Amino acid sequence: MKEITFTINGLQVKANEGDTILGTALKHDVYIPHLCYHPDLKPLGGCRVCVVEIEGMGLTLSCKVLVEEGMRVITESPELSKARQISAEFIVVNHYAECLSCARNTDCRLQDMMNYLGLKEERLQSLKRINREHPIDESNPFFYRDPNKCVLCGICVRTCEEINGVASLDFTFRGFATKFSEMKDKPVTEPTCESCGECMERCPTGALARKGNERPVREVKTVCPYCGTGCGIYLGVKGNRIISARGDRQSSVNKGQLCVKGRFGHNFVNHPDRLTTPLIKRNGTFVEASWDEALDLVAAKFEEAQEKYGPEALGGLSSARVANEDNYLFQKLLRSLGTNSIDCCARL
Ligand code: FES
Repeated sequence: MKEITFTINGLQVKANEGDTILGTALKHDVYIPHLCYHPDLKPLGGCRVCVVEIEGMGLTLSCKVLVEEGMRVITESPELSKARQISAEFIVVNHYAECLSCARNTDCRLQDMMNYLGLKEERLQSLKRINREHPIDESNPFFYRDPNKCVLCGICVRTCEEINGVASLDFTFRGFATKFSEMKDKPVTEPTCESCGECMERCPTGALARKGNERPVREVKTVCPYCGTGCGIYLGVKGNRIISARGDRQSSVNKGQLCVKGRFGHNFVNHPDRLTTPLIKRNGTFVEASWDEALDLVAAKFEEAQEKYGPEALGGLSSARVANEDNYLFQKLLRSLGTNSIDCCARL
């Protein structure tokens, strides 16, 4: 790939051919305010706050324009601040600004942008015209959708289409009433949403946010225990509880993406109904037993079936949650008992 050299605020930087100005600037820790840009998605050019100046070209959207050899980019000037403020005011003027009670408080790209641009609450209040009140959709068990906090950046819509190929979300209605929703404004769980939460993960505001509003104290890097894919995840932990999971963007397996189970399915670890000891049915009722008792019983039943019906009557189903080595040993065990009826759930 051809390397391009250009300058940002007089600093020489290198990028690959095809990179955008915004993507390159962020990689080099030069902040340019932005809302509708996400590195995983095709640029939309909708919010217009990422404007920069290119010498000889004037003001342009840094998320859309590709770097060129010798280009000279300026990211700060009074003219740029004015242009960004005007675009930002259009976006935030009717935003439902209950930041303190919002699940995204302090982790919100809109907040970052407002602070950076110095937008004042009094000024926004004076611009407010209509009080928009959309109902909050809580139909999904894992995250809620609050159109009142949406800035119509389209990141959720593009994520569902470009990354998941599901296209469950789109912009609905027109003009001031525009919002993101399922077809015919149905609840978010209908009709095609897979609840993977990829849209929620990329949402820059509190419009799509995890239910529960708890923040982890630390994160533990691990591998998702569900299927045989082996997605890299970070589990968010608070005290002794797992309260969140996010994909590991450095993992070559999933590159940060997760399915519904990988992202939301870890509550079982602390669930009070979770079995923590083997159960044996005695007189029609399950009673707690030790592992030795349980394994002795299984061995005796295997022996009984083998004697009565022959070894082919036995079969074993292994799990994707165990290591390859354990699965290997399991099939050895079954074959040593004389059966080839072995399977594993490690497929998607
Ligand atoms: Fe460039 Fe929105 S980030 S237009």
